[in-house]
Amino acid sequence: MAKILSLFKLAIIISIVIVSCTRDPDPLPEIKQPKSIGEYNLVSDGLKDYFTSDEYFDMGVAVKTSFFTDPDASALIKRHFNSLTAENVMKWSTLQPTEGNFNFTEADKIIDFAVANGMKVRGHTLIWHNQTPSWVFMDGSATASKELVLQRLREHITTVMHHFQGKVYAWDVVNEAIDDGSATYRGSTWYTICGTDYITEAFEAARAADPEAKLFYNDYSAIGPTKRDKIYDLLVMLKNNSLVDGIGLQGHWNIEWPSNELITAAFEKFSSAGVEIQITELDVSVYTSNSDPESAYTDDMALDQAIAYGRFFNTFREYKSEITGITWWGLADNYTWLDDFPVPGRKNYPFLFDVTYDPKLAYFTIIDFEPGE
Ligand code: GLA
Repeated sequence: MAKILSLFKLAIIISIVIVSCTRDPDPLPEIKQPKSIGEYNLVSDGLKDYFTSDEYFDMGVAVKTSFFTDPDASALIKRHFNSLTAENVMKWSTLQPTEGNFNFTEADKIIDFAVANGMKVRGHTLIWHNQTPSWVFMDGSATASKELVLQRLREHITTVMHHFQGKVYAWDVVNEAIDDGSATYRGSTWYTICGTDYITEAFEAARAADPEAKLFYNDYSAIGPTKRDKIYDLLVMLKNNSLVDGIGLQGHWNIEWPSNELITAAFEKFSSAGVEIQITELDVSVYTSNSDPESAYTDDMALDQAIAYGRFFNTFREYKSEITGITWWGLADNYTWLDDFPVPGRKNYPFLFDVTYDPKLAYFTIIDFEPGE
């Protein structure tokens, strides 16, 4: 009997051992929002998965077409972004360098990448005082008449928007037309020849060319009261004529500026004009003054930048009903126009991804929120 009993005990022990050996190991806790590069490498979610378009806003990036032939850059774009903007190749000087000769080759590469990866494209920019060839304002060796300049403006906008119709969902129709100082309008060649008619004509031509496209006015320092209020007046005038749908705030900011008060005051003001808001050219400089000396990317800078990005994104999430898109003016710290502006040759680090495309503290900070917050 004792033998039977010990055999029975042995059978129980063996079955416990078998069961415990075959039981699935405890699953690892699921990583929703990674907090380190190690965790980031274990998941595939990116910015667009945390800030979903339905609940928050599109996540966009300005690109050069050379990014698409760099496997690491392409992978980073695909993981994080669902909206593309051309850094340069949709500007007038690229699309129509000489009169009547349109060249869409480079711009179409952006469309192709976007289509292949289910992304939107924001058009940038139809009318600007920079990167516009001088022939636009010339008639032979004389300055062109207002009529000729406006005819060229209409021709450019119509041809470009027809080419991209159905592929570009929104356009920065006019970029940077408001003066930085005491004047209302920037004294550009456009303004000198055409007065403010070039602005209204541009929006009218754009509305007629593609009635489905969303039309934006885009500018920098639009957060500060001086430019903000002038831009507001322009938006109200355009909106009263059903010519504008949104304001693009460029977002060339830094680790200290702008304050939350300025940002929210601008969001309140622009949304009261009945337009949607997009941050169209976000980069957060690690320098706050032109006299700051060049520096390596220090831990202190990383912390200050994460705090600034966290602050900006908390406010963006508060205004998620008004904001429809956030676009960075570049992908990662290995390439930014800020390396040469405003101080030539001073290396800057304005993005969420470092020079080797790894996420920075700022990345982990902005994705650290509960769904619905
Ligand atoms: C402005 C323009 C952009 C770009 C940047 C500098 O913000 O809107 O197209 O040229 O300057 O890179």
